[in-house]
Amino acid sequence: MNDVTLREQQLVALLDTRDWLTNAAQTCAFIAQQFDALNWVGFYRQRPANMLVLGPFQGLPACNPIPFEQGVCGKAARTRQTQRVDDVHAVPDHIVCDAASRSELVVPVIVDDALWGVLDIDSPNPARFSTADQHAIERLCRVFVEASDFEAVAA
Ligand code: SME
Repeated sequence: MNDVTLREQQLVALLDTRDWLTNAAQTCAFIAQQFDALNWVGFYRQRPANMLVLGPFQGLPACNPIPFEQGVCGKAARTRQTQRVDDVHAVPDHIVCDAASRSELVVPVIVDDALWGVLDIDSPNPARFSTADQHAIERLCRVFVEASDFEAVAA
């Protein structure tokens, strides 16, 4: 699937600065608006090394910081693999930020071959995220990365 989706075109148009902080905030708000049944959308960035700190988000105040050894976010950061969890209660070290969350998608955000952070998305519905959703969100993450200038990772 190499076609640029309408959502990607819309996000490209929305991200009209090179400022990663502005673009991260806009990306969260855009995803929260575009996808049904989400209760939390936000970035954690790696700062310092092997630690995730809370960045721009939409939703309830959230857990901070998250070490790489913990939770679904930590696993996405460690492995650099998207984590798609149908039932968060089945993950022993899942970190509960909002008790309403039932399923979760965490996409690693890679900048210049380094792990910049993760995009974390929660839903109150079990098994909310399909593989198609995963691919769509991964592509929106690439749009965010390509639209932005970043500070040095883990400075
Ligand atoms: N549930 C995540 C923590 C972040 S919150 O959901 C916003 C985890 O287990 O890593």
